[in-house]
Amino acid sequence: MTIPHSLIIDNGNGDEPPSNLSDNRHFDDVLEVSLSRRSLLKGGLAASMTALFGSVGLAGCAASGGGKGKPLIGFQAVPVSEADSVLVPKGYRVQVLVPWGTPITGNMPAFDPFSNSGADQANQIGSHHDGMHFFPIEGKEPYQGSSSEGLLVMNHEYVEPRYMHASAVGQKLTRDAVPALVNGKRPADECRKEINAHGVSVVHIKKGGNGQWEVVNSKFNRRITGATPMMIGGPVRGSDLVKTKYSPDGARVRGTLNNCAHGVTPWNTYLTAEENWAGYFINRVNADGRPREQARYGVRHNESKPAVSRYGWELADSGADEFVRFDVSAKGGDATQDYRNEANCFGWMVEFDPFDPNGTPVKRTALGRFAHEGAIFHPGVEGKPVVCYSGDDAENEYIYKFVSKGVYRKAAGVANGALLDEGTLYVAKFNDDGTGQWLPLVFGQGALSSPRFNSQADVLVNTRLAADIVGATKMDRPEWGAIDPRTGQVYFTLTNNSQREVTNKANPRQKNRWGHIIRWTEAGNDPAATRFEWDVFLLSGPEGDSLFAGKPLNKDQIHNSPDGLWFDKDGRLWIQTDISESSMNKGDYAQFGNNQMLCADPRSGELKRFLVGPLGQEITGVITTPDGKTMFVNIQHPGATTSAEDFAAGKLTGVWPNKGPYARSATIVISREDGGVIGA
Ligand code: FEO
Ligand code: CA
Ligand code: CA
Repeated sequence: MTIPHSLIIDNGNGDEPPSNLSDNRHFDDVLEVSLSRRSLLKGGLAASMTALFGSVGLAGCAASGGGKGKPLIGFQAVPVSEADSVLVPKGYRVQVLVPWGTPITGNMPAFDPFSNSGADQANQIGSHHDGMHFFPIEGKEPYQGSSSEGLLVMNHEYVEPRYMHASAVGQKLTRDAVPALVNGKRPADECRKEINAHGVSVVHIKKGGNGQWEVVNSKFNRRITGATPMMIGGPVRGSDLVKTKYSPDGARVRGTLNNCAHGVTPWNTYLTAEENWAGYFINRVNADGRPREQARYGVRHNESKPAVSRYGWELADSGADEFVRFDVSAKGGDATQDYRNEANCFGWMVEFDPFDPNGTPVKRTALGRFAHEGAIFHPGVEGKPVVCYSGDDAENEYIYKFVSKGVYRKAAGVANGALLDEGTLYVAKFNDDGTGQWLPLVFGQGALSSPRFNSQADVLVNTRLAADIVGATKMDRPEWGAIDPRTGQVYFTLTNNSQREVTNKANPRQKNRWGHIIRWTEAGNDPAATRFEWDVFLLSGPEGDSLFAGKPLNKDQIHNSPDGLWFDKDGRLWIQTDISESSMNKGDYAQFGNNQMLCADPRSGELKRFLVGPLGQEITGVITTPDGKTMFVNIQHPGATTSAEDFAAGKLTGVWPNKGPYARSATIVISREDGGVIGA
């Protein structure tokens, strides 16, 4: 399959351009519902959507959230805001922790963006914090143990070279642009620094007597970067498709990139997702010359504009393999003498044990290759398969589910990781009657056979193509998922979809500018079932074009582009937003203010805005301590709305948290002045 040249552009937000040109039916087509602004304003939308909106709001009046007569949500909503600060409800306080560049390992190099080297960055917290988990220090089971000491593990999605190098000062640079090339090359250590700012940080933290959290100098502190040696596991391991000069046996790869959201396994390990990795590579051919495993994912080529990888690492002046590998052109007949397969080693979920600082991360290829947003696991049940979900965050891509072949044994501990190497990967098909099917992506079954594919490794490296062929339902950019601990229902955010083509004239969700959240229940409440029933949980948007629990959203609820999603143990659903910085605070996006986090109780139909972040950022990543009394939230890319012109002139839009020359991504720690549970 080839992609028209016109589609291979950078959309300016770091997200990959659309590359699904298959003619599968779109989610819009199956909704078959007219979500007209007019009917909504008349109150007609709720009635027309009843069948697909399930029980939210119907159960609302009767069931109070806590199940014991006490509402789950007890805070006072905060208003929308365009301030360069973090806004939380009355009675709550915020501490800034581990901003980009905080030293955590090695010689503990102090943060200085203009003098820090690539090696320094490998000892410091990475850039642009994303998915995150708090592992209580006992290290036994997820969410069990200490609420005052543990390992905070977080992803680092991407970098802004303009903030990272002295060479950027005075240049007119957008957030993705690299400083001007010198003789067509980039200084190798600038590239190394950017690579080392990607990946994951493991940082041991502890609550002090004053209630403030601090970093512990600990053997557990670790940086995993875009250069860390990793193993390839699962069916793709050893396949011809991942043989490179670095690993002629197709068993190893250097690094993980564009680490978006995450997953936490029932055996208490961490998975990091490789999301918008395709743009980091370039194949020096024209668009049609790329192999399908690059074309269907949007790997750049000679007709791309610009015809350089996202950060131009392949242009490093040292010419070393660690940089050359981002040029995935075939150089001759032998794949083990070049890096034509390097991009096939990305697009996976990567597992590691944060309590084993010397452990080698493993790319779990059985979970499929796409723009993984994260992975969401059902709780482990002794003697049952392990089940997780993952969304492919690109316009018109799909939602997947993995069911392990083997069964979970609690006593096996981290050895359960091998369960992620063998099983069935499914893709979701949403039927128009509210039912759905999980379609297996198994080599040899139906159309997924020779000559289209020659092995399960081939199917997995080409996951998107396999999903096209079996007839999966195109979705509006699946981001995070979450599982309700009280019902086992699975929720997924669909953040927006500017490419959505809708023929229904009255459908205000054409182009889906605001996003929505769907949910489903597996048949018989069995996570491994192949059928499910689904409904729409929430239509995001402004007061005049939204729906939740049978009503349009009110001023305390309006939001846009839902992205991060997490259920706390009591059943509060935390919803985080990511309006792109190209739209933020402009036109009819201005009414939503800066990106925010809301809290919902699906049982009572309550929804309230809990937090608004500073200028230019997205809110992403959320977790509490086991007692629910400390919450960690990530503030990613504050100040990103600063234009290239303003950057060159030294005029910054947003400098939060005011501790450096520029704004810096950081974690915030939220607690209540009265020591209570967050959200209650
Ligand atoms: Fe990294 Fe889809 O957000
Ligand atoms: Ca996201
Ligand atoms: Ca997003």
